[in-house]
Amino acid sequence: PLCQIGLIGLGVMGKSLGLNLADNGYKVAAFDLDTDKVQGILSQDEIERGNQDARIIGCSSFEDMLSQLEKPYLIILSIPAGKPVDIVCAKLLEHGISQDDIVVDTGNSLWTDTVEREKQYNGKFIFFSCAVSGGEVGARFGPSLMPSGDQAGWARLEPVLEAISAKVDPKSGLPLVNNEPGNPVKEGEPCAAYIGPTGAGHYVKMVHNGIEYADMQLICEAYQSLRTALNLTPKEIAAIFREWNKGPLNSYLIEISAEVLDQDDPITGKPIVDVILDVAGQKGTGLWTAMGSLEIGSPAMAVTASVYARCLSSLKDNRIKASGILKGPAVKTVPESEKQAYIQRVHDALYCSKICAYAQGFELMKTAGEQQGWDLDFAAIAKIWRAGCIIRAVFLQSITDAFNKDKALANLLMDDYFAGQIEKFQENWREAIVDGVRLGVAMPCFTSSLSYYDSYRSETTAANLLQGQRDFFGSHTFERVDEPRGQFYHINWSAERDIVRLK
Ligand code: 6PG
Repeated sequence: PLCQIGLIGLGVMGKSLGLNLADNGYKVAAFDLDTDKVQGILSQDEIERGNQDARIIGCSSFEDMLSQLEKPYLIILSIPAGKPVDIVCAKLLEHGISQDDIVVDTGNSLWTDTVEREKQYNGKFIFFSCAVSGGEVGARFGPSLMPSGDQAGWARLEPVLEAISAKVDPKSGLPLVNNEPGNPVKEGEPCAAYIGPTGAGHYVKMVHNGIEYADMQLICEAYQSLRTALNLTPKEIAAIFREWNKGPLNSYLIEISAEVLDQDDPITGKPIVDVILDVAGQKGTGLWTAMGSLEIGSPAMAVTASVYARCLSSLKDNRIKASGILKGPAVKTVPESEKQAYIQRVHDALYCSKICAYAQGFELMKTAGEQQGWDLDFAAIAKIWRAGCIIRAVFLQSITDAFNKDKALANLLMDDYFAGQIEKFQENWREAIVDGVRLGVAMPCFTSSLSYYDSYRSETTAANLLQGQRDFFGSHTFERVDEPRGQFYHINWSAERDIVRLK
């Protein structure tokens, strides 16, 4: 019998997606240039399917894979972003894929590449994109999916993507998880929604990753502050995070941070976090988000701060040298009687900063969406992030509610609920930052989030002085508060200091 889906790329994500598709009743023709990887998915299928027939067919070439497929073809790519996508598309064209066939790119592709590819392959085959979040386990048992592109492609893909995606209990908004092979969750709301025209899905996934960077960095700053000020062990901080996970900070990232802090190194027996080298890796999606936000002038300072924090971490050799030269304040640990209050302040700082990071991410998507004509549905985007993806959190339900109340909400900070939350906790947020600054704990993401909040809520900023400076040294002109926008003035700073009204 023919297979319904061709799968190219059987790395960690591809293999998991293939098994997930098989669990959901799709017969998969799987191909990878690395024959060990083909063997890997076949062996796993054999273990998991019990005495049922093989659900996955291993293929030895593009040709072999296509010969196993029903027409029109539905081919899913799980290959590294960039050149490999073009190479594989070219190969598929060489082997005769045509107009009605769909090729779905599930990698972390740069959204502008996706837009270009759709143009390039238009009329040759349907190039569709479906960004995937959730790592290996998500891909295996239910990821969050951000599909975009051709409507005809979506019509065909919708049942497949909804079947394999994570599901949420519509009543509680909580993930419905089953990490048992062969037993996918069928009920609940699927974490897959059509995002928009080509490029939109990859853009939204890029911002998801930018928010992921910020969220991770914020948790790291909370950890660092607790560790420095309270002299706690990683295990004690893990216990604090587990407590936090019962409240509004409940999220996958808090949960796994507790797991990491609780783990000992199997070799030395020390806490693993003390053995892991403090040099952060990055594959680029956070940087893309930061660059994109700068390019379109939509401030996403929590993202840029977290990308810079990773860059700074990688200057390890310089930091080692500098630590012997540059002095910070004397660190006085907080007395026992004040510990609980300190922990609460850090909790509230994390929560308020997190609201800012998400507010920035959503405003960025709004600005980009308007520029690109995407008409993004933010309630739906927050909804599909409630389960399956790396930033899944209880908090996302409140974001969905905010956009359901006001589809055109300019910024999450202006939603009644979030505005109220920050009002309630901001005193502690500010105190936690003061505490950290006094102790010399670097908190780039906490502090930039607070500055963002304080700038965003200000009717007037110091940009009036800045415009004065620009006009002074470069005759760059300025607008006046008592005139309509668009009418420019200049002062003759070096002469009479009279004012010139420009035409
Ligand atoms: C996800 C993750 C995933 C990947 C990150 C890691 O949503 O499943 O975001 O896409 O793990 O790209 O990114 P860095 O290597 O840049 O931290």
